[in-house]
Amino acid sequence: MHRITGSRGRLTAVLGVLAVIAAVAVSPAFGRQGNVSAHNGGVPKSANLKLGKTLFIAACGGCHTLAAAGTKGKRGGNLGSEPSGYTAIVTQIKYGGDGMPAFGTAFAKSQIVAIAAYVSKSTPYSGASAD
Ligand code: HEC
Repeated sequence: MHRITGSRGRLTAVLGVLAVIAAVAVSPAFGRQGNVSAHNGGVPKSANLKLGKTLFIAACGGCHTLAAAGTKGKRGGNLGSEPSGYTAIVTQIKYGGDGMPAFGTAFAKSQIVAIAAYVSKSTPYSGASAD
């Protein structure tokens, strides 16, 4: 047990709780989402898109608009407005930047994979990812 200090600690704690809720909420029926199309820039076939959507709405939607998720956050802009490559999204989630907090310690790797897979599948994809 350690004392949580500062906004970063609070955010991490909130995300941890959300992640647990999301993990419990995701039933085996959702399972693996197969058939991730090959053109989609290295998204692992095991990526759980349902989990990604749940986590996106909880952790990202407050700052990002994404039509597919029904979120309308303004601070981080509209992720559906331009192509985003899977690998670039993974990096952005892990390290943040440009005013976005880092989530590399808030999420397990499989959760980051799930969110990035979901976002990259939900944005226009040109085949020319930034990675
Ligand atoms: C506290 C607000 C905030 C949260 C929460 C947040 N972001 Fe961001 N995000 C930003 C800001 C600000 C930028 C920089 C936007 C820019 O450069 O125009 C950004 C940029 C991005 C980018 C780069 C693409 C772009 O439009 O510049 C991606 C991808 C992204 N965020 C995904 C996510 C994901 C996925 C999550 C959830 C794990 C998340 N963000 C959570 C604020 C946030």
